Amino acid sequence: MQNFTNKLAVITGGASGVGRSLAFALGAEGARVLIADVDQPGLETTQKALIERNIDAHAQFCDVSKPESVEALAAKAFDELGGAHLVFANAGISAGEAGQIWEYTQADWQWTFNVNFWGAVNSINAFMPRLAAQGEEAHFIVTSSGNGAFIVYPDQPMYSSTKAAVTALTEALHIQMINQSSPVCVQTLYPGPYIVDTGIFDSDRVRPEEFAKAADAPDTGIHSADDMRKIMESFGLELKTTHPDEVAQIAIRGVRQGHFWITAMNPDTEQKVRARFDSILTGSALPIPTL
Ligand SMILES: NC(=O)c1ccc[n+]([C@@H]2O[C@H](COP(=O)([O-])OP(=O)(O)OC[C@H]3O[C@@H](n4cnc5c(N)ncnc54)[C@H](O)[C@@H]3O)[C@@H](O)[C@H]2O)c1
Repeated sequence: MQNFTNKLAVITGGASGVGRSLAFALGAEGARVLIADVDQPGLETTQKALIERNIDAHAQFCDVSKPESVEALAAKAFDELGGAHLVFANAGISAGEAGQIWEYTQADWQWTFNVNFWGAVNSINAFMPRLAAQGEEAHFIVTSSGNGAFIVYPDQPMYSSTKAAVTALTEALHIQMINQSSPVCVQTLYPGPYIVDTGIFDSDRVRPEEFAKAADAPDTGIHSADDMRKIMESFGLELKTTHPDEVAQIAIRGVRQGHFWITAMNPDTEQKVRARFDSILTGSALPIPTL
């Protein structure tokens, strides 16, 4: 798809970070946007800011971990707003992981998989039949992460597992659509090339009570990109970050190109990915990635 004018873009996790930037960038390209999120105040603030930019912006509360909530979002897009041509299954969280894997709580596992993995499944189930029935050129883009898909960092096993799963899921969907000569192009977005400065470090702000963090859970001490920067500086390391607006431009370019992988890697990540695949192909020792 080259021209986004008047096309409806549905963006989950649209209140903040990458999703928010996507809404502004697509709106600037003439698209109408429907942002969806569990953060109701954030949703309202973002919708207001979009409208102030003369963007035709709609908003709906949606919890991607709940099939009926995503179904209601898809119904709004198709029954009220005339159909969608861009769907970004983008909502995601990080539960603030620390300690040994076997010390993680069921609540941490469940919340992470409910949003990052089941959110993608629920989005596929709600939107793909409608996109297929529409029979027009459309894009369904899942936000994954290089952390899990390409490299496995040892400090976020739950997050990495969800993103590995989401990549496999979306890759299978992409191939199914190609095999059916479907006009729906399925893609994955890997935000980068560096850590993207968003609200993901403080996902606990939208953590549901039923998956509350254990009172004695270890604190990672990282609740913002700045926290991470300070920790890295204390080891004499520099943290480079990417602004989510840059990710939105990369995503738009990726949609126009229409390939499955929408990536932007920095040289260090690229080297790590090559080393990992080299170890897979040769059966040599797994390179141990560090940030
Ligand atoms: N920030 C990074 O460096 C980075 C890197 C790779 C991938 N990602 C991925 O990018 C996507 C966007 O994250 P971000 O970095 O912009 O973080 P963010 O926290 O700024 O935005 C995520 C949004 O998702 C919403 N959300 C959380 N749970 C939800 C639910 N159950 N239903 C609907 N919305 C929900 C949040 O309220 C928030 O508005 C995520 O999938 C994340 O895993 C981020």
